[in-house]
Amino acid sequence: MPKSLISTRVSKLKPSGIRKFFDIAATMDNVISLGIGEPDFDSPPSVIEAGIRALREGQTHYTSNAGITELRVKLAAHINLLYGVQYDPATEAVITVGGSEALYLAATALLNPGDEVIIPTPCFVSYQAQVMLADAVPVEIPCHMEDNFDVDTRAIEAAVTPRTKAILIGFPNNPTGAVATRERLLEIARIAEKYDLLVLSDEIYDRLVYGGHQHVCFPSLPGQAGGSVTL
Ligand SMILES: Cc1ncc(COP(=O)(O)O)c(C=O)c1O
Repeated sequence: MPKSLISTRVSKLKPSGIRKFFDIAATMDNVISLGIGEPDFDSPPSVIEAGIRALREGQTHYTSNAGITELRVKLAAHINLLYGVQYDPATEAVITVGGSEALYLAATALLNPGDEVIIPTPCFVSYQAQVMLADAVPVEIPCHMEDNFDVDTRAIEAAVTPRTKAILIGFPNNPTGAVATRERLLEIARIAEKYDLLVLSDEIYDRLVYGGHQHVCFPSLPGQAGGSVTL
């Protein structure tokens, strides 16, 4: 397809480096690809069987746009059990096809053209692109190896402008593995409250935490459930 047909929005996006390596590794023998974030085992038989059974039972039709009610109820109960956070499954839970769709929906539903989103980096490869697809502007705040990729919340606050709409965080972090402390998340929450910002918290690796570290669910912080969106 001629490049001129591609929208300006999409032509500004950088191709994913992880995917480039994945494609190269797939052409090589005796190479283990560590690029994509997925387990090194196949889906458990019980999961595969449940999927096949559901199809055989005729569950092949449209559901509510927000996803199957029973699944949303279980999801809300699950996050409540893990972190004590209360979400109403009828109005505050949406089922998506993975984290990327959830990020895309959150970005397009919440951001207006020109809005700025503060993103601590390194971060998951698609964060900047998701923001740009909503015609908003990613504002990167670098985290450094010397600090164990801890977030510099003073730098976050210094980056806030009248156009800032949200802070997008991802802990435990892909690719750095950093886990945010409760203290650091409380600082982010204070900044969000002070400047009336949304916090989008991607917590898809919440259970991949090792050693003495503990995952803190952002909306479980005092007063944060209403102003944050969690994946
Ligand atoms: C931090 C993070 N968020 C979101 C995603 C996207 O998840 P999905 O593959 O479910 O769309 C990934 C995938 O690797 C990820 O690492």
